[in-house]
Amino acid sequence: MNIGIDKIGFYAPHLYVDMNNLALARNVEPAKFTIGIGQEKMSIAPITQDPVTLAANAALEILDEQDKEKIDFVIFGTESGIDNSKSAGVYVHGLLGLNPHARSVELKQACYGATAAIQMAKGHVALNPESKVLVLASDIARYGLNTSGESTQGAGAVALVISADPKILALEDKSAYLTDDIMDFWRPIYSDKAFVDGKFSNEQYILFFQKVWESYKSKSGLGLADFEAICYHLPYTKMGLKALRTVLEQGTEKDQERLVENYQISTTYNRNVGNIYTGSLYLSLLSLLELNENLQAGSRIGLFSYGSGAVGEFFTGILQPNYREHLHVDYHKQLFDTRTEVSVPEYEEIFEKTLPIDGSTVEFDIDSDPATICLSGMKDNMRLYINKHN
Ligand code: HMG
Repeated sequence: MNIGIDKIGFYAPHLYVDMNNLALARNVEPAKFTIGIGQEKMSIAPITQDPVTLAANAALEILDEQDKEKIDFVIFGTESGIDNSKSAGVYVHGLLGLNPHARSVELKQACYGATAAIQMAKGHVALNPESKVLVLASDIARYGLNTSGESTQGAGAVALVISADPKILALEDKSAYLTDDIMDFWRPIYSDKAFVDGKFSNEQYILFFQKVWESYKSKSGLGLADFEAICYHLPYTKMGLKALRTVLEQGTEKDQERLVENYQISTTYNRNVGNIYTGSLYLSLLSLLELNENLQAGSRIGLFSYGSGAVGEFFTGILQPNYREHLHVDYHKQLFDTRTEVSVPEYEEIFEKTLPIDGSTVEFDIDSDPATICLSGMKDNMRLYINKHN
């Protein structure tokens, strides 16, 4: 039985800052951000969007009534969850009106969480072939104003439906993974901003890629020639390229050209959104699938997932016949086309605006946020959500 990605949707908040402007405001050469880091625009989450609403908005567009009935497992991968007890999956389950006879949980291991969710979903569907699993990957990346990580922030979510006989990508069974207890990036419970050892994190990312790639090759007997494309977790778009370059010489000139060209296509959405942590790899996959119209059904796509701390995995999928018919290309194009640019001072003001932590009541102006699902306020330490369609 084939199991894999049946549907895939994406959502980013409607605000962004231009990286050229951010560079100028930080006295940095703009080319450092746009070429050295490889980012053009950075999504900014207004106070009315949090990881729950971003995920719910990403799922809203792709789910139909049959999905809502058949989904019996919601797995929410995030590293910027909103509660240390209640899972973000339960909130989204409620906001989307899913079948109550479902499990809902949250998974955490930095940016790797959604990959663990997908593997768990695959196991669930193998045991329950009629089931569908909703995997959510949603985060707001915050390093802080004027920090070295600032240019690699972002906000957004990807929603995936995992099922038997998937319409987009059938996941293959061979996979290689690795855990090593390192401190390259972390966020203690008391901090809403991440701590990072930037250079070390880059080195570890590449090392993890090399190790899981070698392990995958010996498990599968496959090599670069067997891949149409490899998608990467993209904290910034230059990162995956650095990892890819370390193995390119294993392929022919033709392999190298194909993989680099597809790599560039796979980074387009991420380049305009920033790091969305758990969703970054899947945003890159979406970018490749939606923007390269020449991919053939039957092609193999490699996926490298990395979550600081650290866990890495290399796994693969096969494109399904007529997969393009099941993408939401126009919706995503419109999402990008209708965003609003904010100035650096406006971004700084939004960044500093945080929710009350003293139980006071606040109400937000949700009319200024075009999203269907918004955070409308807080009361008694509870977040209040609204689905404008209800
Ligand atoms: P930095 O010190 O600001 O930048 O840190 P840099 O000095 O290393 O420069 C970056 C690149 O720009 C270099 O290119 C420069 O040469 C180039 P490279 O040598 O690396 O190819 N550059 C220029 N290029 C063109 N024109 C110019 C120019 N000037 C310089 N004028 C860093 C950059 C990414 C380290 C920092 O932003 C950071 O710490 N970010 C956060 C950590 C991160 O993203 N790490 C990535 C791997 S870890 C990961 O992926 C996990 C993560 O997603 C978290 C999770 O799992 O939850 C982060």
